[in-house]
Amino acid sequence: MILDAVLADQSPARLVLATFFPLALLLSWIWRLNLGVTRKVPGPWYLKLTTAFVKYREFTGTQATWIHNLHLRYGPVVQYARNQVSFASCTASKQIYSTGNKDFRKTEFYGMFKQGNHINLFTALDPEKHGEIRRQFADRYSNSTVLRSEIVTAVAERAETFATICASTNSADVYFYLHAYALDCVTAMLFHPYGTNSLNGGDDKQMVHLLSYANPRIGFFLTYYSPFLGKLWNLLAPTSTSSEKGGEMIHKYVTNTLARGGHSDFTLAARFSTQGEKLDLPLAISECLDHIGAGIETTGDTLCWLLWALSQPQHTARVTQLHEELVHAHRESLDIHTLPYLGAVVQEALRLWAPGTLPLPRYVPEEGRCIDGYYLPGKMVVGCTAYSMHRLDTAVFPDADEFVPERWFDNKGGSDRQRNFFAFGLGARTCIGKHLAMAEMRACLNAVYSKYRTQPAHDMNADMGLDDQMLTSRPKGMSCKLEFVPWEDESKE
Ligand code: HEM
Repeated sequence: MILDAVLADQSPARLVLATFFPLALLLSWIWRLNLGVTRKVPGPWYLKLTTAFVKYREFTGTQATWIHNLHLRYGPVVQYARNQVSFASCTASKQIYSTGNKDFRKTEFYGMFKQGNHINLFTALDPEKHGEIRRQFADRYSNSTVLRSEIVTAVAERAETFATICASTNSADVYFYLHAYALDCVTAMLFHPYGTNSLNGGDDKQMVHLLSYANPRIGFFLTYYSPFLGKLWNLLAPTSTSSEKGGEMIHKYVTNTLARGGHSDFTLAARFSTQGEKLDLPLAISECLDHIGAGIETTGDTLCWLLWALSQPQHTARVTQLHEELVHAHRESLDIHTLPYLGAVVQEALRLWAPGTLPLPRYVPEEGRCIDGYYLPGKMVVGCTAYSMHRLDTAVFPDADEFVPERWFDNKGGSDRQRNFFAFGLGARTCIGKHLAMAEMRACLNAVYSKYRTQPAHDMNADMGLDDQMLTSRPKGMSCKLEFVPWEDESKE
């Protein structure tokens, strides 16, 4: 209205205001771009003007490789949006994430993973609150708890079930069965002596089905940038309904399992129940749901890519070496969790295919910070991606895109490799489930490759390329059909 009145007016004031408004808008936009401050940060100029390009990449699930290609062109520091910079160096990852550095806080993006309205371990933004929660749970996931005989046995049994089921057909979809395996392992850890039995069927299997084929990316994307469109999508998209039903089933399962009591004293469930009258049941439920959510696709998908790689002819010699190490360990009653080649295979799989391939976003503190020689103003979002940390520096990771477990035995550059290893994040927010995830991976490989070789099934035609979700990635085709061939049975070759 005011503008209309001004435009109708023919006085010189009209001219001044008509020029002033667009100019003021333009200046405030340029001001928000921080161009003066970030002009020296490497990256294409047009990406610095907007967030549209990164949003497009988020929407299409191609962010990790896009950012990596920018790193290949511009080096270990690259600005890929008006307010976002990616780093691929161990100095930056240490500064941004390392223990004790409470400066770089998680962004509100993590709120997308909230269960109800509860603040829990993964979603807590405030470092004090996070520290308080983490202290309560840290011992529940320590390596010594994971390697307790009860857990080792529970995980080994599930791994055997996985291998037996897959070997009972000439085309086993390991994408699905590995999600089921990961669910059964994480619930065994949370609720021992109970836990889901999704590998064997029933409602638990249905739960994995509903969750494994949902398409959270688009729902997340819309909800994050426009809650209204997000709600609309969740109403209309069939995959959202399936994910919601799966979520409801898990919720019911967790509620009932927590309520029944009698959990082994080293479990997270037992930690909650010792809180007696102080127990906040909805919070306990939300925390367990969060750990289950964090533990299914991550471990399942890394294993899926690994089994796929080990099914390729170029890795036959490696599979034979793994098989021989495992058979020898069984014969000599050695602990499989200490086997060197098995450990290197797991480590290499995590280097190439840990699904946390997107930048783990953190805010630069208010006063701004200098990272890897570049000053960034407060509130810029910075992060590192496992994808680029594990590939960019080819002096540390020669043939970076190749699956070469032997690299982990090379004494030369060993500490550089470890410093660049970012599969589980770093510092105070590092993955609490990492020992469990690695134990699951070792147990799975043991159950499979001590008895079988694997090869692509006759009807395997799914795309094993990378499909980014909002924080993790999964195989694009959501299917990986393999045939398990017993070692003695060479007739099928
Ligand atoms: C291969 C398997 C896994 C990978 C690659 C992985 C990766 C990660 C990464 C990168 C983070 C840090 C996120 C950030 O800083 O923004 C994280 C955090 C977390 N992970 Fe995992 N994870 C895996 C398995 C698991 C499992 C099995 C659990 C089950 C307990 C789990 C539970 C969590 C939780 C609760 C957090 C939040 C920790 C905190 O903020 O203190 N993860 N994970």
